[in-house]
Amino acid sequence: MEQDERRARLEEAAQLFERAAEDGPAQMHCFRSAAHFSSEDGAPRRAHACVRPATRGSRRDRLLQQARDHRERASAGARAAGSVRAGGYRERVPARIYAIANQKGGVGKTTTAVNLAACLAEAGERCLIVDLDPQANATSGLGLRANGHSTLDLLDGTPLGELVTASSVANLDLVPAKAELAAATVHLSALEDGERYLADALREEATAPYAFVFLDCPPSFGPLTVNALAAADRVVVPVQAEYYALEGLSQLLGSIDLVKRRLNPRLGVAGILLTMVDGRTRLAEDVEHELRSHFGGLVFTQTVPRSVRLAEAPSHGLPVIAYDRRSAGAEAYWKVAMELVDRT
Ligand SMILES: Nc1ncnc2c1ncn2[C@@H]1O[C@H](COP(=O)(O)OP(=O)(O)OP(=O)(O)O)[C@@H](O)[C@H]1O
Ligand SMILES: [Mg+2]
Repeated sequence: MEQDERRARLEEAAQLFERAAEDGPAQMHCFRSAAHFSSEDGAPRRAHACVRPATRGSRRDRLLQQARDHRERASAGARAAGSVRAGGYRERVPARIYAIANQKGGVGKTTTAVNLAACLAEAGERCLIVDLDPQANATSGLGLRANGHSTLDLLDGTPLGELVTASSVANLDLVPAKAELAAATVHLSALEDGERYLADALREEATAPYAFVFLDCPPSFGPLTVNALAAADRVVVPVQAEYYALEGLSQLLGSIDLVKRRLNPRLGVAGILLTMVDGRTRLAEDVEHELRSHFGGLVFTQTVPRSVRLAEAPSHGLPVIAYDRRSAGAEAYWKVAMELVDRT
């Protein structure tokens, strides 16, 4: 029931996205940290420091309201079906924790974490990204910096609630990373039970305010990634559509299985996501064919195209649905988000 409701809301949000796209030139909304945004002709323009939709009572507002109404109806349906406690409160559903992992660098992990979280947040789900990479790309990609506290403190036992920072995207919070996190790699491997520190930090009570948590892993299968897999319910494996992409993938899935057996029996693979697909090349086609023939249904049906907008968005501190919601990259991540909800 909960899953159907989430999917329905995502579908509505995607329709909202499609219909809003017909409204003409981009109307930026809700994203405080935008220094620039792109106009329809692609030229960067100075954005206002606006936090509200450009037009009050716009079509977008009305559609958002419809999405809320839909949620109300779905909750009422759930109450009637007895899956929600009397008193009108939604039954507490634990946060679904996704690790976005691949030991290969530059395959689209951070892009996937940020944009999936942003789509779900736009659809009304409270989301959290935990930046587990000392490169701190998810942090800077959301236009934020770790001022003082960071993921390192989370691993050190500081309660999650004291470390989350609200991003400029409504419903989307972040635990930022900083370079010092690299030191954690050494400490964690020296500690007994060092693989479970993040799982402890993200236990059910701590993540209760969130519906979805995304763990952006570094490009190695080291202690930080192992901690992420030990804490996650599901792992999403982004794979770049290139010749070397498949190398190491079977080992990665083998290592994930090892973590599942040794540390976290509830861990499952949500799917392999093909990213940076250049539809014009034979190579991309071949890689996709090979991936699907090896891994079948484990591969997301939706792929992510190579998109300049996706690459540009982090430099503006924005997810792509905020930077250019009409881009192919934005549309792809909406669809991946819907498929993800379906796969859970
Ligand atoms: N679909 C895409 N189209 C074009 N560029 C992309 C796409 N996805 C990601 N990129 C760009 O490719 C680069 C690598 O992406 P990203 O940082 O998401 O990968 P990563 O796996 O997180 O890298 P790392 O392993 O270093 O953490 C970034 O510059 C990003 O903006
Ligand atoms: Mg990254």
